[in-house]
Amino acid sequence: MNKVYEKLLKCYDCYKEKIDFKPKVALVLGSGLGDYAESIEIKATLDYHDIEGFPVSTVPGHKGRFIFGYINEVPVVIMQGRVHYYEGYPMSDVVLPIRLMKMMGAEILFLTNAAGGTNFDFQAGDFMLITDQIASFVESPLMGSNIDELGTRFPDMSTIYDKDLRSIIKNTAESLGITLKEGAYLQLSGPNFESPTEVKMCRILGADAVGMSTACEAVAANHMGMKICGISCISNLACGMTDQPLSHGEVQETADKVAPLFKSLITKAITEIGAIS
Ligand code: HPA
Repeated sequence: MNKVYEKLLKCYDCYKEKIDFKPKVALVLGSGLGDYAESIEIKATLDYHDIEGFPVSTVPGHKGRFIFGYINEVPVVIMQGRVHYYEGYPMSDVVLPIRLMKMMGAEILFLTNAAGGTNFDFQAGDFMLITDQIASFVESPLMGSNIDELGTRFPDMSTIYDKDLRSIIKNTAESLGITLKEGAYLQLSGPNFESPTEVKMCRILGADAVGMSTACEAVAANHMGMKICGISCISNLACGMTDQPLSHGEVQETADKVAPLFKSLITKAITEIGAIS
């Protein structure tokens, strides 16, 4: 059997042994949102450490566990802490949690992250609804022999971010009085931030935000036929767009500052998503 699939099945068995909960929505928490899961009605938790073979994040401030519970009656699984490609894991490990959440039953994937704005119309603290993405700078998670049990060899990527989900999120933001920008997200490997010329490249290529996660997760999820939506917290303008050097501290600080607003948007959007689907 395909080694990647075999590992996934082992992780799934481990989850099945420990958890009796079927989520509808899978939510991945980005920087600043780490404690969001603690505000929901928690039914169970599963530490990544307790899943044999599961990749465990090394980034400070990133917890590592699945939380199972309800957001206003919508059954969710939340990833408190994601694994990044720059940590050195193979791409198949980076997307393993996403695949696992689909196997748990989640049909909808809600991705969040902190990102650098490359669009001059953006400001630090803005939220951007992800409309599309550029994943071409990191290895595809679908590389290697195809896992037919998950999806097709050459999956269509014409609408990665579901139109209905996007429209729900837009309406939700409007009802909460939250300004929501829109744009394309470009994933680079990191962990270094970009040079000013790389930021210019991202902009020329059509990106509005740049980050180190998300797009590969969306590729894997799309391969499996999940409905996907995503929001970036623009934690900073990308390098070279201001005269300030960039630090992880600044990213964290802005993400923390707007987190309460981000959380209210996510809660209401997931409630609405749960009601219609
Ligand atoms: N670049 C890449 N990733 C990021 C940034 C950035 O400016 N801000 C937050 N994540």
